[in-house]
Amino acid sequence: MRLSERPLFSAGAIAARVTELAEAVSRDCAGEPVVATVVLKGALFFAADLLRQLSVPVTLDFVRARSYAGCNSTGHVTLTLTPEQDLRDRRVLIIEDILDTGRTSAAIVDYLRTAGASDIMMCALFDKPSRREVAVHPAHTGFVVDDRFLVGYGLDYEQRYRELPDVYELLGPEV
Ligand code: IMP
Ligand code: MG
Repeated sequence: MRLSERPLFSAGAIAARVTELAEAVSRDCAGEPVVATVVLKGALFFAADLLRQLSVPVTLDFVRARSYAGCNSTGHVTLTLTPEQDLRDRRVLIIEDILDTGRTSAAIVDYLRTAGASDIMMCALFDKPSRREVAVHPAHTGFVVDDRFLVGYGLDYEQRYRELPDVYELLGPEV
């Protein structure tokens, strides 16, 4: 596969936006503790950068959802890892890499609600609203993008490219 020649989002631009998101999330939490629920694997780098800039007490947990084969969602989402903490009456912050159809996030929100979370907020680094099939309501999104497939800074195509510091568009097969 081929990547765009230049990054769509440079590491510097991402870092600046993550700082703004951390300020917004901290403001929302108003000094109250929050359970950060990181959606693996894509949100790993984003979460590491975001959480270190929050000014509220954080406990860390993870979810892993499966739905994807290649570039297209299969539509069916299962959670293969769920938080270890008791979430009853807790404020939970879902940290997502990218919102696409919304199916993954909707399934995670359902799970957290059933687990008893009193307040669920979502922060996603990227959002592709034109692809939405299921309504989700992120409290904060970093960048709105049109229908392009992004890789880097945690985002993968078939498990590749996560380690790139900048975010590129995946353009298709090498020619
Ligand atoms: P959704 O359930 O369709 O919203 O898909 C969300 C998940 O699909 C994300 O957490 C990503 O893992 C993956 N995904 C969607 N769009 C992209 C993309 O542009 N690049 C890499 N992964 C993506
Ligand atoms: Mg993925």
